[in-house]
Amino acid sequence: MVSRVKFGVVGLDAMLSGGVLEKSVCAIVGTYGTGKTMFALQFAYEGLSRGEKVIYISLDEREELLRATIAQKGWDTEGFGDRFYLLRLDPTDFNLAISSIKSELPALIRSTGASRVIIDPISLFEGLFVDEAVRRQEMFRFVEVMRDEACTLVLTSETDAANPDGSRYGLAEYLADTVVLLRYIRSPGLTEVHLALEVVKMRRSAHSREIKPFEIHEDEITVYSEASLF
Ligand SMILES: Nc1ncnc2c1ncn2[C@@H]1O[C@H](COP(=O)(O)OP(=O)(O)OP(=O)(O)O)[C@@H](O)[C@H]1O
Ligand SMILES: [Mg+2]
Repeated sequence: MVSRVKFGVVGLDAMLSGGVLEKSVCAIVGTYGTGKTMFALQFAYEGLSRGEKVIYISLDEREELLRATIAQKGWDTEGFGDRFYLLRLDPTDFNLAISSIKSELPALIRSTGASRVIIDPISLFEGLFVDEAVRRQEMFRFVEVMRDEACTLVLTSETDAANPDGSRYGLAEYLADTVVLLRYIRSPGLTEVHLALEVVKMRRSAHSREIKPFEIHEDEITVYSEASLF
């Protein structure tokens, strides 16, 4: 039986039949502000709370801002000790970002023994490759290399401007074993915008296909498992 890794968001773990599969690749896809970073941090926190080592690579938010978000959540970062590797990569520095992620990340995973790795968002890394065919090839190769590592990988991805249900370059959902889509729901008659999530795919596992509303709070994400939007 395959082991599962709890994502750390209660309702989502239930939708994933208990969590993502160990050593699999999970993509969190959503447009700006839908909570990708919050989910990614929750995944990191779940691991840290279990005594695991976690590598979090941020390509957009600066390290001090992410640390401020974490402090706001009231998480005991001191207690994480040196098990939390929070790294900011400047996506405008093409060579550095590519060599850090392609060559140095696998070595870092091995030297640290990290069991959870997050890249937030992977779409900024994908965007470094201007040529579509090169991007595709590089991303497939990268995920293949990562599959040899003893870690569970979470990639967040912005959506495609023309298709809010798909990732920016249309690759993440093919590369990942599990895809979670975060969306805004703006229904006629509703006076506020809601957030909803769905598990679009999950290789080698049963999963929920329901669309469930969720809310982001300062200290946690609440998925309303009993509620229905439609
Ligand atoms: N302390 C908080 N309390 C309540 N809601 C919050 C809090 N912090 C963030 N949020 C909500 O979460 C949203 C941001 O979530 P997050 O940064 O994870 O989105 P994202 O998908 O990563 O966005 P981007 O693509 O811009 O990076 C905010 O727009 C806000 O609605
Ligand atoms: Mg973000």
